Amino acid sequence: MPMPPCDGSRSGDATPHVPLIIQGGMGVGISAWPLARAVASRGQMGVVSGVALDRILAIRLQEGDPGGHHHRALRHFPIPGVAQRILERYGDAEAFAQTGRYSSPPMFSERPETELLELAVAAAFVEVWLAKEGHDGVVGMNLLEKIQTPTLPLIYGAMLAGVDYVIMGAGIPRDIPTHMDRLARHEPCALRLHVANGADGEMLFDPALFGHVLPAIRRPGFLAIVSSEVLARSLVRSGGVNGLIVEGHTAGGHNAAPRRGPPGERSPVYGPDDDVACERIAALGVPFWLAGGFGHGDGLMRAQASGAVGIQVGTAFALCRDSSMVPALRRRCVQAILDGTVSVRTDGRCSPTGFPFKLLDLGGTAGASDAPLVERMPCLHGYLRHVYRRDDGSLGWRCPAEPTSLWAAKGGLADESLGRICLCNALIATIGHHHGWPRQEHALPLVTTGDDINCVAAIAQTAGLDYSAADVLDALLPPAVG
Ligand SMILES: Cc1cc2nc3c(=O)[nH]c(=O)nc-3n(C[C@H](O)[C@H](O)[C@H](O)COP(=O)(O)O)c2cc1C
Repeated sequence: MPMPPCDGSRSGDATPHVPLIIQGGMGVGISAWPLARAVASRGQMGVVSGVALDRILAIRLQEGDPGGHHHRALRHFPIPGVAQRILERYGDAEAFAQTGRYSSPPMFSERPETELLELAVAAAFVEVWLAKEGHDGVVGMNLLEKIQTPTLPLIYGAMLAGVDYVIMGAGIPRDIPTHMDRLARHEPCALRLHVANGADGEMLFDPALFGHVLPAIRRPGFLAIVSSEVLARSLVRSGGVNGLIVEGHTAGGHNAAPRRGPPGERSPVYGPDDDVACERIAALGVPFWLAGGFGHGDGLMRAQASGAVGIQVGTAFALCRDSSMVPALRRRCVQAILDGTVSVRTDGRCSPTGFPFKLLDLGGTAGASDAPLVERMPCLHGYLRHVYRRDDGSLGWRCPAEPTSLWAAKGGLADESLGRICLCNALIATIGHHHGWPRQEHALPLVTTGDDINCVAAIAQTAGLDYSAADVLDALLPPAVG
């Protein structure tokens, strides 16, 4: 696929231009459509997170859809009948207002119900459609390779809304470009499932399930997030990769494990082996962006001096007022950063994915070093479950953060479950949904940021606690481009 100009200007043709700044895709729901729209309408790439979009749409509809945005987007969903069925299932805001209890969609597995597939396709459509509304900027959708089962319906839904890029990290997304080619032609796809203890499984997704004449769609660009040159080279050789985001271990969210040292350490230690040589990435011949600690005024210049097109920035955007973090929590984070009373640590154990995860050590959140030890609850959302093969050959699903007795009963090893926390509950609470757990601490919010939180202090010092995405862009871009 030819790449358009790399100078932040519009190319004038149908191919989306390549921006200097990619706003990091941040799940769960932190980089939702308002943030992506704010960034894309300023000429840089806005990115919605695809994580848990099915649930988020069901939740937002039941909460009454303030502003009517999701209803408005659903009216544009191109396949007849789907929006109506979703509204029949989740559109009853009065029931939720009376009981305070959400009606939850089913969890994804290797054979998801048609109802869930429809919800995921429509949810991705809605999120991208809203992010693209009212401007002609570039919008991407970010997915984690580790969360496998919702991937195909989410990509398809995003493509129906004209998403410009699909961005994927946290794994080896080798097959995704081919799936995107097929989905653009409405052809069935079989996603290979990584089974913990046996032969790979398969999850099928066939757009024909919608049984209608399907609209023509364009294959978006594909950007792979990598933390090693070996993975970068192998993905580029496999084909279909339009660019790379090279993410360092200081970046917010999940990080690659250190290359040296035993896996699964509580406090992973990174060394020079974990740095990626940019000249080797540049030699691969695809555009690349650098991520992790580039949220400062000189970040773009530093990255470009290494041969990168630009930068991907997360932390500074996660704490701006266009992010979907609960506003009181976001302000508390920014204030603590300004006061210098908070720090960031990399926890090698807490994420059920097995990847290290960055935690902001903020009191009253699940990331605080003195957070209470919480009784584990049965899995409610299911995104981080691992697929395993039962003795009879069938596939089962288990999460290392569920009660240890359940995990063990499904053949999970005690070691693997040690120190895990339910990121699904915590991250969904961070955007304001508590799901009526029996005790508040079962769904304490959790804030992840990159190691470099000084970028937030620098912006908030001039633009205030409630700084905007535009303030972040102003801080990052040279005046002529911003
Ligand atoms: C709150 C938050 C959530 C994130 N979630 C994801 C995610 O779901 N998927 C992903 O690929 N990267 C995720 N990231 C990483 C960002 O996309 C980006 O690469 C990173 O934040 C860049 O480094 P910085 O935090 O130093 O700016 C997250 C980062 C933050 C701060």
